[in-house]
Amino acid sequence: MKGMTATRDAIFETRRSTTPAPAAARARILADPGFGIHFTDHMVTARWTADAGWHDAVVGPFGPLPILPGAAALQYAQQVFEGIKAYRHADGSVWTFRPDRNAARLRASAERFFLPAPDDTLFLNSLRALLAVDHDWVPEPEGEKSLYLRPYLIGTEQFLGVRPSPEVTYGVIASPSGAYVGGLAQPADVWLSEDVVRAAPGGTGEAKCGGNYAAGLGPYAEAKAHGCQQTLFLDAETRTWVEEFGGMNVMFVTSDNRLVTPALTGTILHGITRASLLQLAAEDFGLTAEERRVSIAEWRECVADGTFTEVFACGTAAVITPIGALKARGFDVPAARDTAGEVTRALRERLTDIQYGRVPDTRGWMVPLHD
Ligand SMILES: Cc1ncc(COP(=O)(O)O)c(C=O)c1O
Repeated sequence: MKGMTATRDAIFETRRSTTPAPAAARARILADPGFGIHFTDHMVTARWTADAGWHDAVVGPFGPLPILPGAAALQYAQQVFEGIKAYRHADGSVWTFRPDRNAARLRASAERFFLPAPDDTLFLNSLRALLAVDHDWVPEPEGEKSLYLRPYLIGTEQFLGVRPSPEVTYGVIASPSGAYVGGLAQPADVWLSEDVVRAAPGGTGEAKCGGNYAAGLGPYAEAKAHGCQQTLFLDAETRTWVEEFGGMNVMFVTSDNRLVTPALTGTILHGITRASLLQLAAEDFGLTAEERRVSIAEWRECVADGTFTEVFACGTAAVITPIGALKARGFDVPAARDTAGEVTRALRERLTDIQYGRVPDTRGWMVPLHD
């Protein structure tokens, strides 16, 4: 894929919406945004062709995309995406968290799907260009609200033979967001997917592609039917090792001050929250960060004997969510505790304090998007 990555300093042309949401309607949405329901007035699109590279970088009115029914993304799922948030700080400025990590992951996902990907400059400029017109859509930080940003890449060539699309659209849409699952107050019960796996070695588990999520909808429905909010997936080969949830990584706190999470074995998404929490846990809280295999048997035994004192899920959308009971066809593992534990709370507070600018960002994780 060398040579397919944009390198020029992308300039976005802005075409303002003539029908933006009235301020009162926007205020009503921002008061209680939910998650992924409402969208801002504008969106980013940029086109890539094999001949011309990246061009037509536009921030325009939010609306339907021109896409033909035979497009590669629609027929063969040549599509990848990212999830990243914009946070409003107390002085009104708007920031994002480790965008270089999202840009790098988008490139890695894109490479797996033979798509060209934006370089760091195009990626960051696209977020800044969108925020330049839609900054009023970033909620006030109360209640840990933010503006969720969804960059994506789709193959748009209409062709029913299978080949890498020589025409690609990069886009960014934005959706004001509140709590994703239940927040800290409500531990999420999780359902163990025993028949369906999310990712196999050599497959697409490490890539953030829509197909991974579509293929998880069956197990998600099963989870819902059992009163659970998330699905837990095991490794494909032995159905022994804990991998991750449908949309979040998993972490365990132990009674001897370790923060344990499944190692990245090629089938688990490289979560940016995961990496950040491992670092914060070690550097700021003196925990031993441990990336290793964790079996489902260990989860059962260690909750029972008190070795696992807290279990939580982490990701951009949910930040940190305490995990309640683990339910499976043949057994139930009760919650390690009824409410969010001390480490879960402390890590969540430190991470969100950095993201919302309430403590100094000593690691250079925060990047400004708008004054
Ligand atoms: C399958 C999956 N695992 C983990 C994560 C957490 O990743 P991050 O912390 O980068 O949001 C996500 C969310 O993006 C996800 O969809």
